[in-house]
Amino acid sequence: MQNVDIRAATPTDREFLVDMLVEAVNWLPERNWSREQILANPAFAHYVTGWMRPDDVGVVATQPAVRPVGAAWLRHLTAADPGYGYVSDDVPELTIGVRQSWRGRGVGRVLLRAVLDVARARGTGRVSLSVERANFAAGLYAAEGFRTVESFENADTMVADIRA
Ligand SMILES: CC(C)(COP(=O)(O)OP(=O)(O)OC[C@H]1O[C@@H](n2cnc3c(N)ncnc32)[C@H](O)[C@@H]1OP(=O)(O)O)[C@@H](O)C(=O)NCCC(=O)NCCS
Repeated sequence: MQNVDIRAATPTDREFLVDMLVEAVNWLPERNWSREQILANPAFAHYVTGWMRPDDVGVVATQPAVRPVGAAWLRHLTAADPGYGYVSDDVPELTIGVRQSWRGRGVGRVLLRAVLDVARARGTGRVSLSVERANFAAGLYAAEGFRTVESFENADTMVADIRA
């Protein structure tokens, strides 16, 4: 595993979280949506709007020292404004992204475990996510305890029970 530091996300990380949201949306190399397009689309923007709310949970990987290279965060969305991986108002949804040049070196797995640890410590019972089936990230999520609870044409909703 690459040597990165993990710290708690703060309100000032919003811009970097937007960077990582852009990475998550554009996981397919041929998909190249601009930051402006993504922020103008409410279905994506609501993962970062008003960051950081009291019940938002996030972690950031940095290297060297302070440069952020990846982030994972959890957000409670509601039935009135559901995320792609929405299952319930009390189940926060994961967003995760690692800068391209840092992928495949273990940062994503460390971030995922770290954000789930923080959530568990706060008493969160379950976490959901949406992943397009062709994305290798689905294998990472399965290996870390997420199970498919609903399948759509190209994407699965996965849930992990993170209670200790
Ligand atoms: C998905 C993402 C967050 C994973 O982070 P990462 O740092 O690249 O992943 P890791 O290095 O921790 O790898 C975790 C596992 O994924 C798999 N994996 C990693 N890179 C892979 C690749 N290029 N192809 C296939 N599998 C791969 C491996 O199984 C790996 O486990 P292993 O190291 O035990 O073999 C990151 O690649 C990313 O930001 N991708 C673009 C955005 C995205 O897809 N976000 C998620 C949307 S649901």
